[in-house]
Amino acid sequence: MSRERILIRGAQVVFPSQTAQANILIEDGKILAVDAARDQTAERVLEAEGLTLLPGVIDDQVHFREPGLTHKEDIETGSIACAAGGITTFLEMPNTIPPATHASELARKYERAAKVSRVNFGFYIGATESNLSELQAATHAPGIKIFIGSSTGDLLVDSQQALEEIFAKTTLPICAHCEDESTVRSNRQRLGDNLSVHDHSRIRDRQAAIVATRRAIDLATRHQHRFHVLHVSTADEIPLVSQGRPWITGEVCPHHLFFSVEDYDRLGSLVQMNPSVKLPSDCKALWQALLENQIQVIATDHAPHTLQEKQQAYPSSPSGLPAVENSLALILNQANQGRCSLQQIVGWMCDAPARVWGLVGKGRIEVGYDADLVLVDMQLKRTIRNDEQWTRSKWSPWHGTTLQGWPVHTLVAGRTVYSDGRVHDEVRGQAVHCDHARGGYWQTADGIGI
Ligand code: DOR
Repeated sequence: MSRERILIRGAQVVFPSQTAQANILIEDGKILAVDAARDQTAERVLEAEGLTLLPGVIDDQVHFREPGLTHKEDIETGSIACAAGGITTFLEMPNTIPPATHASELARKYERAAKVSRVNFGFYIGATESNLSELQAATHAPGIKIFIGSSTGDLLVDSQQALEEIFAKTTLPICAHCEDESTVRSNRQRLGDNLSVHDHSRIRDRQAAIVATRRAIDLATRHQHRFHVLHVSTADEIPLVSQGRPWITGEVCPHHLFFSVEDYDRLGSLVQMNPSVKLPSDCKALWQALLENQIQVIATDHAPHTLQEKQQAYPSSPSGLPAVENSLALILNQANQGRCSLQQIVGWMCDAPARVWGLVGKGRIEVGYDADLVLVDMQLKRTIRNDEQWTRSKWSPWHGTTLQGWPVHTLVAGRTVYSDGRVHDEVRGQAVHCDHARGGYWQTADGIGI
C-alpha cells in the first residue's frame, strides 16, 4: 500500500454510471476523491491527459500451476503477466499438484502469494467427492470450485449424491467447470483412436456442456445456492444461466468469443481448450449475451502449457491457453471497433466479478474503494508477439494479432506495478477480502446493480 498522496490528473475516468474527465486523488492505497482540483497538492502526480482510467481488472478464473507444474507458470510469473495486462486481482483455481482441496494446501498458496504476487489474489478451494468438511471450513476462500467434468488434473465430482451434499451443506459461493463426463467418455469411445485436434470439439461437444450446465443449475436452483457458471461456450447454455437469476451468474472467456472450430486448421492445438471451441454462431451469441447482460463476467481461464507440450499430437496435447496479459486489450479493441462501450467493459471485467465474489473495495472507481487502477491508451496499436509475452509459457494464440487499446500503467493499492513496458518488482498484492453476504448479482432499475 502507498502512504503517499497521488494525483492522477486529467484522465477520462470510467465511473460506474458515466465516463468523464476527472482528477483522482489517492491516499493510503484508497481513492480519497474523484473530483479533486487540477492543482491539488500531492507527493506524486501522474499526468494522464489523453488516457482512460479504469478500475483494475478482476480475473476470476486463472490457473497459475504452483505448486506442481511450475515449468508452465507460477504465482509470481502469472501475477507479473496480470500486472502487464491491467489485471489487479486474480482468483486462482485449485487444480494444482497437490490440488488445493484442504486447508493446509490453501494456506500454503496464500502464504506464497503474499511473498511473490505483484497483484491481489484469492484461491478457490477444490471440491472432491469426500472433502465436505474442508469446504465448510474454508471461509477465507472466495468460493468452491467443482469440476463437473474432468479437465487438466484429476479433480472431478460426478456422483449426484456428492453434488447434492456440496450444494446443500456448504455456504461459500460455488463455481463449476461444466462438461458432462459420461457424454465426453462415450463420444471418445465412438470416435475411436485415429483422432485429430478437430475431434476435440466432437468429444467435448456442445451436448456435454449443455447437459452439465443444466445439471449444475438444477442443483443451484433447488438448493438456492449462489452459483457461477464458468466459461460458457454454447448459445444453448445462455438461457439456462439467465433464467437462474438472481442466484446464478455466468462467465465467458475471450477464446470462446474469438475462436471457433474454424480456427483448428490455422492454429491446431493452440486453440484446444476445455470446454472446446464451438461454432462461429456460438461466438456471436455469447457476445450478444454479454451485451444483453445475460452473462455478466469476462474472465480468461488463463491455462498455460509450454509450446512443446501443446505441439504434441492430439490427444497428447494438453488443453488450455495463456491469456491474462492480452484479455483487456482484446476487449478494448472491440470497443474501438464500436462493438461495446468502455462502461460495459468495466461492468464485465471489474464490477461484476467483484460483486459475484463479494470482493470488498474492488471493481469501481468510487471514494473509499481500493486504488487498484489501470490507465489505458485507446489509441495505442500493438501486435501480440510470442517472444514479448510475460507468461512463463511464452506464447499466445493471438500471436501476430494487432489490437488498438492497451493498458499502459497499472496501480495496485496506489502503487505503480506496471508502466512504460516494465513491471515494478517491489510491489506486492494482498489477499482479497470477501463479504459473502454481499456476493451476488442483483440488477437494479438503473441497470448498474448493487
Ligand atoms: O482448457 C482448460 N485447461 N480448461 C480448464 O478448465 C482447465 C485448464 C487447465 O488447467 O489446463
